[in-house]
Amino acid sequence: MMINISEAKISATRIMSRCDELAKITCATSGITRVYLSKEHLIVNQLVGKWMKEAGMSVWQDAVGNICGRYDSNIIDTPAVILGSHLDTVKNAGRYDGILGVLSAIEIVYWMNKKHIVLKLAIEVIGFCDEEGTRFGITLLGSRGITGTWERKWLNYTDNNGITIHQAMINFGLHSNNIKNAARNIKDIVAYIELHIEQGPCLEKENLSLGVVNSINAASRFNCRFIGESGHAGTVPMSYRKDALTAFAEWIIFLEYTTVKQYPQLVATVGTVICKPGTTNVIPGTVDFSLDIRGPQDILIESLSSIVFEKAKQIAKCRNLFFEYKEFYKTSETICDINLQKVLCYAVKKVQGSNLLLSSGAGHDAVAISKCWPVGMLFIRNYRGISHHPKELVNINDIILALQAYSESVCKFIEIKTNNLM
Ligand code: GLV
Ligand code: MN
Ligand code: MN
Repeated sequence: MMINISEAKISATRIMSRCDELAKITCATSGITRVYLSKEHLIVNQLVGKWMKEAGMSVWQDAVGNICGRYDSNIIDTPAVILGSHLDTVKNAGRYDGILGVLSAIEIVYWMNKKHIVLKLAIEVIGFCDEEGTRFGITLLGSRGITGTWERKWLNYTDNNGITIHQAMINFGLHSNNIKNAARNIKDIVAYIELHIEQGPCLEKENLSLGVVNSINAASRFNCRFIGESGHAGTVPMSYRKDALTAFAEWIIFLEYTTVKQYPQLVATVGTVICKPGTTNVIPGTVDFSLDIRGPQDILIESLSSIVFEKAKQIAKCRNLFFEYKEFYKTSETICDINLQKVLCYAVKKVQGSNLLLSSGAGHDAVAISKCWPVGMLFIRNYRGISHHPKELVNINDIILALQAYSESVCKFIEIKTNNLM
């Protein structure tokens, strides 16, 4: 089945209005912020669960807080193709990142159910609960629940209010003893296919609505700290100071310069900076900051990070400070399954006339899922590639094409898979 154009129009309109509806579920007074194990997470799961049910799925919330729906085949216990993306957001987010993928997947099932189509594999839609890691700093907690790769030590990680994941789970109505129940058997899933906004400018530049992802960039994240000495802003002479913020300032320019000049394939970002004690009349004693480096190869990331950390130590030494860092997240490059790439390319060419293969600079639930199952990703153009920003925007005509290509890919994949041609 391919969703036809008039059906896709109905679905795309519904998706746009549902994105608007979900955008209202936020903990912020302005903008969208929806984090793991929050009141808003619970409300969104209930609403998306209701939409899944209406589309013809049996629905449950799993042990880590993912909302899951299953559209069964007529073959008992048949494995499933997983579709979906995430429902959590960064701070002050856009309304499509992740959400568009979940809502599109629900539409695929909606039309299958409406047309009484029975497939040889089940389809499951998952609204992953924590891709961004906004609240606890650890990413992909939803998809890593499915793959059974949660680490017990994470339970003690805290949010900005000192609430541990363990406690937040209890407050939400879950319990950490049950986390393992979210893990799925390898044999019960055959593949994961995710639709997501591109979050970059390539499709727009090529004047294309859709593209197929061949790989997702590697990433490393670090918590870093310059430790100096706070002191009186009025009395300590400039030459006596151990100002952690000026050390940081010297370093971050070096980071930018080195990345641009020597590692053009990489991107490096300091996204959080906490300067303590943070008072106008006190010299900054410590600066805590995050560093996120991404690119196509681990070895390049390792090389850049060792250069910039060496420089940080040098700067600290010259200024009589200390520097320390700790890596808290690392993923290698994720290669999308070649057969899924072929199926997606075929479908994209069919609806769009041509295709663009591209790599993803952003991380996705597919990164975690790829550790256990083949993954494929379909990208949809978004306005100027703006994402992680309230101005994130998607064109409804692109969604119409995306739904046709997505449904075509899913059906083709199931056909090929169940005929043992893959
Ligand atoms: C997730 O959106 C990421 O790539 O940081
Ligand atoms: Mn995101
Ligand atoms: Mn996303």
